[in-house]
Amino acid sequence: KHQLEPRQSTDILWDPGLVGPQDRIRRNGHDPRCIWFTGLSGAGKSTIAKEVEKRLFDQGLQVVRLDGDNVRHGLNGDLGFTRADRRENIRRVGHVARLFYDAGTIVLCTFISPYRDERSFVRSLFPEGAFWEVHVDAPVAEAERRDPKGLYRRARAGEIPGFTGVDAPYEPPEECELVVDTHRLSVDEAVERVMQILNGS
Ligand code: PPS
Repeated sequence: KHQLEPRQSTDILWDPGLVGPQDRIRRNGHDPRCIWFTGLSGAGKSTIAKEVEKRLFDQGLQVVRLDGDNVRHGLNGDLGFTRADRRENIRRVGHVARLFYDAGTIVLCTFISPYRDERSFVRSLFPEGAFWEVHVDAPVAEAERRDPKGLYRRARAGEIPGFTGVDAPYEPPEECELVVDTHRLSVDEAVERVMQILNGS
């Protein structure tokens, strides 16, 4: 049982509309999916997801990307990085991902999503087999060496309290659909692994 609320409210009836999931699948020519990239800041989530998005788009598929940094500018601009705010962040984007899924889209989500409980909640929003968790795995030392936004340096200097991997936890998946070890793989190889599971090989 999840501490986050289920996908229903009292006194409100779900309206399925006149366009069903099968209508969308027929028109789009593919099933919708949610691919959930989790991992440390600097592990490579966005880099990989942007490339996957481009490839899928070029293949003519319906695809959208929800990114932590971007979503926090708007929809989740009121949230910070406390435990409660991260939880709310993931709760909201999980529901947004499900809305895109219902619209027939392949949704690529790149959020640190450091807690297993929240990731398991998001999984529970999707039908069996429609949610794929991809652990973009790099050791903290490697993410810190890359430090593309200079955030680790600032976190070590005490300027960003509660930074994931420094003084806030990251709980790696115990079970997930795919692990891409970006310490060992090139970006191209990591993208290829994701494309392989998407293409069912
Ligand atoms: S979470 O934990 O899932 O709610 O985080 P997310 O929405 O993915 O946002 C992570 C990006 O925010 C920047 N940032 C921080 N990350 C971790 N901890 C702290 N305290 C923090 N403060 C700001 C950082 O740029 C993350 O971006 P990515 O793309 O992961 O590097």
